[in-house]
Amino acid sequence: VAPARVALFGVGTVGSALLRRLDRLRATSPAIAALTLIGVANSRQLALATRGLAPADALARLAASEPAVEPEALLEALGEHGVRIAIDASACDALASRHADWLARGVHVVTACKLGQGAALSRWRAIRGAGERHGTRYGDAASVGAGLPLLRSIRALRAGGDRVHAIAGTLSGSLAWLLAQYDGTRPFSALVREARAQGYTEPDPRDDLSGEDVRRKLLILARAAGVELESEAVRTESLVPDALALLPARSALDALELIDAPLRARFLAAHRAGRRLRHVARLDADGARVGLEALAPSDPLAQGEGCDNRVVLWSDRYRDRPLVIQGPGAGADVTAAALLDDVLEIAARAA
Ligand SMILES: NC(=O)c1ccc[n+]([C@@H]2O[C@H](COP(=O)([O-])OP(=O)(O)OC[C@H]3O[C@@H](n4cnc5c(N)ncnc54)[C@H](OP(=O)(O)O)[C@@H]3O)[C@@H](O)[C@H]2O)c1
Repeated sequence: VAPARVALFGVGTVGSALLRRLDRLRATSPAIAALTLIGVANSRQLALATRGLAPADALARLAASEPAVEPEALLEALGEHGVRIAIDASACDALASRHADWLARGVHVVTACKLGQGAALSRWRAIRGAGERHGTRYGDAASVGAGLPLLRSIRALRAGGDRVHAIAGTLSGSLAWLLAQYDGTRPFSALVREARAQGYTEPDPRDDLSGEDVRRKLLILARAAGVELESEAVRTESLVPDALALLPARSALDALELIDAPLRARFLAAHRAGRRLRHVARLDADGARVGLEALAPSDPLAQGEGCDNRVVLWSDRYRDRPLVIQGPGAGADVTAAALLDDVLEIAARAA
């Protein structure tokens, strides 16, 4: 494994889990010990140590640092030579807009953020093009399915000569949990409040209920499958009624009941037909779409527990019986593990 210099942008839920993982494993893994963490940043501060920061000290050093002038200084600190890796564990559009430039400067990028490959097609193309032209790699396993082997399987199928015919999946842990719990006896809004209290939803649950996050994940999967979709090409059904969507964040939580009547009507219609309501993303000959579907209980997407993601893939070799990939598709620890796996693979290939 080549020694690599690493910079971490974002030390929230995922970034701090990554720091704990680096700290825990570096005594036993020579590959992890060969990584030098040269700095960490949040949106306001920056802690740098060009000879290396101990992962266990990084958060305290960050808290004690002066307000940062420019997070990009962290990228500069990676230097000009050797294996350099920037990890993006933020959800910051301004950082994602820099990924292609970083790749062009010889810095490999590993990201949990969907705003690189799941935003405008031009940004996706810039990222793929910069990596190809400059021989730098883009580690994206954490960005969809928190490291489940989704992108990897799609790429392996294509590399082996298969065309991907269709993809269908439940890609939101929070919506999977909510719809698996919902049996019409309690208001949906009460379940949303409970999910939020347990940390399954974004702070503003409308971000999950709008389907926006799932739309970005479907874009990333579709583009990896060779379908270069413009971001507007995904028809997305929002579960948030207009009256709720228009409210400012601080009053939206008090008005979540606005979601109850439409959801109950959809649930009862599905229930009467012996079907299960699920939030599904699909790409097939009819295009790309995200929204609620009433599925037969035998449908692979109607099964699965808790917050699991489930993805079904049809390709030349999986024509009649599809490939099904299932597992936890969110959570700080699996996401941090996926980021570190990508970092280690880049360092190993550079050796
Ligand atoms: N949580 C999960 O289960 C999960 C799973 C898969 C993927 N992801 C993705 O992973 C990313 C991080 O998620 P999270 O749950 O850890 O979010 P989070 O807890 O909100 O943390 C985000 C971090 O990014 C920092 N940040 C924001 N703008 C920045 C900038 N310009 N420069 C440097 N740092 C910046 C924030 O700093 P401040 O505190 O200063 O704002 C914070 O430290 C997101 O893109 C998310 O979609 C999360």
